[in-house]
Amino acid sequence: MIVLGIETSCDETAAAVCQGGSILSSVISSQKIHGQYGGVVPEIASREHEKQIVPIVEEALNGAAVLKENLHAIAVTRGPGLMGALLTGVSFASGLSEGLEIPCLGMNHMEAHIFANFIADPKLNYPFLSLLVSGGHTQIWKVNGFGTYELLGETRDDAAGEAFDKGARILGLDYPGGPAIEKAAKGGDETAVTFPQAFRKSDNIEFSFSGLKTALLNYVRQEGKDMISQNLADIAASYQAAIIGILLNKLRLAVDQTGIRTTVMGGGVAANQEMREKAEAILGDCTVLYPDASLCTDNAAMVAFTGELYLKSSPERSGDLAVIPNLRLAGQ
Ligand code: KG4
Ligand code: ZN
Repeated sequence: MIVLGIETSCDETAAAVCQGGSILSSVISSQKIHGQYGGVVPEIASREHEKQIVPIVEEALNGAAVLKENLHAIAVTRGPGLMGALLTGVSFASGLSEGLEIPCLGMNHMEAHIFANFIADPKLNYPFLSLLVSGGHTQIWKVNGFGTYELLGETRDDAAGEAFDKGARILGLDYPGGPAIEKAAKGGDETAVTFPQAFRKSDNIEFSFSGLKTALLNYVRQEGKDMISQNLADIAASYQAAIIGILLNKLRLAVDQTGIRTTVMGGGVAANQEMREKAEAILGDCTVLYPDASLCTDNAAMVAFTGELYLKSSPERSGDLAVIPNLRLAGQ
């Protein structure tokens, strides 16, 4: 089966071709324009997707050496994400699928982030725990099987990616904040500043990042710009360590509470190298898996791959194309 995946939920226009679980091509165009605004501007994102979608899909088909007439289905993200951005991808995908007379599947972006782990490790076994950490989500899921998910806990306020993005803005760093903070933190002393880690001692799997962001803001105001720029590596390292500490502490708790010793990560924050290294130390008794960084941040390979899984398990499941900006995972 050959599936074209399309992803336009936020500020990446992406297309990929998957055949029999192998990714034949994956093309991602990141909209750099948002950098000057310090975050994604929804109207601009939709307009950029409209400009990019045709050449990106063509590039993906050419890269896979597949003619569109040979596609068996199209899988497209229908949520969660920005309404206009999602609509651009879904309208394009449904038009193309009608022209080609093939099924079009509306996909859940977060489910695709979980299943990106199977691209990295096809032998991954159920059940496993999945830490989903992106710009809009911070959740731990118990994944019992394909389509059977149990939410163990999530954030009460900001997502981990938002904590990186807002922290970067406070420190005068670029958007997206995750890679910017990771870079600035290189060689810094993460014990230089003690930032608060909410719920660290609670026995519940829950997260909160808004207090951490406020603590950074207060610290910057108190110390002044010169001190911050002179000690940027230490401050960025300390802030990053607090986010990672919050996340891994709860993943450890989820392992201890469930007894499940296979953990996977997904979403843009999972691209963080420091978090990967610390995860291996904190979860030394577990199998810790994470996809390549390019499969953690938004991409269409994960959408095509998960779409193909659906086509194999429930071929009748097409036409489900309603765009839902706050789409939740099945079973919630
Ligand atoms: O999954 P994703 O690409 O888009 C959403 O679904 O939201 O995640 C984007 C988030 C952004 O907040 C970005 O700052 C963060 O992932 N991110 C990172 C890294 N790369 C991207 N956070 C920490 N370290 C990174 N290397
Ligand atoms: Zn994402």
